[in-house]
Amino acid sequence: MQVATTIPSARQAVEQARAEGRRIGLVPTMGALHAGHLALVEECRRLADYAAVSIFVNPAQFGPGEDYDRYPRVLEDDLRMCEAAGVDLVFKPSADEMYPRGVPDATFVEVPGLSHVFEGVIRPTHFRGVATVVLGLFEIVRPDVAVFGQKDYQQQALLRRMVEDLHVPVEIVVHPIVREPDGLAMSSRNIYLDPDQRRGSLALRRALEAAVAAVAAGESDADRVRQILRSPIESEGAAVLDYAEVVDALSLEKLGRIEPGRTAVALVAARFGKTRLIDNARLTE
Ligand code: PAF
Repeated sequence: MQVATTIPSARQAVEQARAEGRRIGLVPTMGALHAGHLALVEECRRLADYAAVSIFVNPAQFGPGEDYDRYPRVLEDDLRMCEAAGVDLVFKPSADEMYPRGVPDATFVEVPGLSHVFEGVIRPTHFRGVATVVLGLFEIVRPDVAVFGQKDYQQQALLRRMVEDLHVPVEIVVHPIVREPDGLAMSSRNIYLDPDQRRGSLALRRALEAAVAAVAAGESDADRVRQILRSPIESEGAAVLDYAEVVDALSLEKLGRIEPGRTAVALVAARFGKTRLIDNARLTE
């Protein structure tokens, strides 16, 4: 496994693999890798012959007062996990390498519409930071395929839109949510939860399961499904609900009815102390 910290060295490594005729895959991450990331790497290795993982805690996607400084940074563990998972290249740039002019003066990519709803209401500059860094990573690595997790549902919808709008020649693949044995969606931020919040966090999964079951049993009124989603989270003492929504799978428009021919997704977000958790589930195929 090669570890590149500069853009030219990452490009050189990938170009060599491409010259050998290998299909290039990329898994962008912010490190603090867990089994969810490893599932993305495994998928990437299935779809490509050369697996690159980027590890970069992207300052541009954190707002003032968010957890940029305390975001877990465990490079040695991450490298060990990548090596064991059969990764070919880890790209671990510095902030100066990715943002040579500094974040405030950087050129940004905006994906209107999908950036300022749900997570974007609470984190108004988050998605332009995500879109910008991911486009930069695509330009550096030029992957044939890039793998993202379904847990960040809005993120993958926005990145798909960006790639389509900017004609970026990359296939975006989304891997289903990987969960802890008790059902909590894996996240690098789960380590912030105290035992009470950790127990309370299971309300998200319970809410989604109840909504999926209601729709499977024939419920098609989206407001009723919203109520089903809200109730377990609102009755959980450790949680403050941010949103519980039923949306179109591609446009993220709020739905009135759940109907055949339009895939519906439930999105939930809640705060447990200072930690925000998000989760989602498809309600229809
Ligand atoms: O999902 C993440 O970890 C980040 O948002 C990403 C895609 C690596 C961009 O920094």
